[in-house]
Amino acid sequence: MTEYVVRFTLRQRIEHLAVMTLFTVLVVTGLPQKFFDSSWAEAIILGLGGIDRVRWIHRAAGILFTLFTAVHLTLLVGSVLTGTGSLSLVPTRRDFEDAIQQLRYYLGTADAPARFDRFDYRQKFEYWGLVFGAVIVISTGFVLLFPIAATRFLPGEIVPAAKLAHGNEGLMAFLVVIIWHIYNAHLSPDVFPFDKTIFTGRISVERMRHEHPLEYERIKAQEE
Ligand code: HEM
Repeated sequence: MTEYVVRFTLRQRIEHLAVMTLFTVLVVTGLPQKFFDSSWAEAIILGLGGIDRVRWIHRAAGILFTLFTAVHLTLLVGSVLTGTGSLSLVPTRRDFEDAIQQLRYYLGTADAPARFDRFDYRQKFEYWGLVFGAVIVISTGFVLLFPIAATRFLPGEIVPAAKLAHGNEGLMAFLVVIIWHIYNAHLSPDVFPFDKTIFTGRISVERMRHEHPLEYERIKAQEE
């Protein structure tokens, strides 16, 4: 029988589900606005009930996404300051060494793959990509939401610049999720066809040993 260990808490699973849902809503209502003259964009906009409704949904989802990001970052900083949180997602020198080791292993010039802790360098890169991407879409999103207020203390060029940065960052985030995240989380041979861990919170001991051996060894040592 397969043995499991807990990898994600209920809060982390809910956070992932919420980001996934909000991100999908933002992409589905944002990209058709950027590519408004394409037939697929027109079909989505008409299917959702017209441009006014699409803009309204995008703005509401954007505000929820902003609140969500603020709560996440506040709880994160709070937990680190009070010593209850972990720094397992902070990139270290070891991540760069792991990336090189892993590349060498894939190229056949190293005998063994890198041995990872709770999060590997790819997972950390994705997390921080999401955080920095969120800072860009949120700040530019608010300039688009309140252009008159923004141009009271910033030059007028900020509005078209924010529109360009917002739309392109949104497009890039979408491509990163489709190409990189879906591959790593579902299509890579290690986890194909579907990695359920972020939904169930559980990971098999076999996968832990294979994908996060350093964390697994630490848990075992603590238990003993
Ligand atoms: C990952 C999240 C997001 C994606 C993928 C996304 C995507 C987009 C895209 C592609 C556009 C069209 C830009 C153009 O016409 O060139 C847009 C417009 C806009 N977005 Fe976002 N966005 C996101 C988050 C946000 C957030 C957080 C806000 C927040 C406050 C926001 C507010 C707006 C506003 C106000 C517009 C202008 C359209 C309008 O006036 O209704 N977006 N978004």
